[in-house]
Amino acid sequence: MKIIFTGSKGQLGYQIARVFEGNELLGVDREEMDITDRDEVARVIGEFQPEVIIHGAAYTNVDGAETDREGAFLVNETGTKNIVEAASKVGAKVVYVSTDYVFAGDNAEGYLEDDKTGPQSVYGESKLAGEKATLGVSGWELVVGGGDRPDGDDQGIINNNLIVRTAWLYGENGKNFVETMLKLAEIQPELKVVSDQVGSPTYTKDLALAIKFLIEKDAKGIFHTVNAGNCSWYDFAGKIFELSGKKVQVSPVSTVEFPRPAKRPAYSVLITDKLNSLGFENRTWQTALEDYLDSRKK
Ligand SMILES: NC(=O)c1ccc[n+]([C@@H]2O[C@H](COP(=O)([O-])OP(=O)(O)OC[C@H]3O[C@@H](n4cnc5c(N)ncnc54)[C@H](OP(=O)(O)O)[C@@H]3O)[C@@H](O)[C@H]2O)c1
Repeated sequence: MKIIFTGSKGQLGYQIARVFEGNELLGVDREEMDITDRDEVARVIGEFQPEVIIHGAAYTNVDGAETDREGAFLVNETGTKNIVEAASKVGAKVVYVSTDYVFAGDNAEGYLEDDKTGPQSVYGESKLAGEKATLGVSGWELVVGGGDRPDGDDQGIINNNLIVRTAWLYGENGKNFVETMLKLAEIQPELKVVSDQVGSPTYTKDLALAIKFLIEKDAKGIFHTVNAGNCSWYDFAGKIFELSGKKVQVSPVSTVEFPRPAKRPAYSVLITDKLNSLGFENRTWQTALEDYLDSRKK
């Protein structure tokens, strides 16, 4: 299969390159294809003629976006529109990687794909705008229950594109919570970590495998794809130190005691029943974390 993936130098890009080995792959990042440049996007996609575009490139600086709304929307909304437009000209399917931050985080049951969104940050708003660009606004509204839902399998989805929402990503090639904790452990014997935000840590390898599975099923619409189970950042830190044998004293703190520019959802657990019902089994976040820590030793 001919596949272009954006964000090739990012965390997810690293694993997409490995998991999709054997396909005719073209990885692009800012230098090869700035997604905010409509003509460049049309040229690169037009020349390669992919069947699928895995679109992982994004403005991912959650706190930075609070004071750079224009920059975040330029990449996450306009950049995605450019890709979707060029993809439709060559008949390619777009797989857009989205986030739990499109939700408010006030649903103690966790979130299903068609639950109401309510981003709390500029980053979340801009990623949601990218979702709407991916399915077309009216298609997106049908999927998340904003409009009359027709009977039948396709539920009114107007194109073949796919949105995979994930959360709390970590993996090779990036700045992430696991790496931050391991670095801090070298210099601080005691750490305070937020215990009132709960989510599902997800290894990029597992996300890339779920994306491959969904492409093979020709899935469309929205799917939640995270490692199984959930925890707070405090629990996550404890597990990182336990599995890596670091002796660090971790104490829980509340979000109020640790303010950040962007508001984070308090409980943004993504339910993966829809993905699982197709036959995909996601590993627990603890097993995936162990795998990542083993792989970074090699
Ligand atoms: N990280 C998380 O916790 C998390 C959680 C949920 C969902 N997601 C989503 O998952 C996807 C992958 O995340 P990630 O952590 O792998 O991201 P990442 O490591 O930050 O990689 C994103 C890549 O996109 C590139 N990029 C940014 N602007 C671009 C532009 N205008 N044109 C072309 N490339 C551009 C970045 O280049 P520069 O470094 O030069 O900017 C970077 O190489 C993203 O869509 C993100 O929104 C992430």
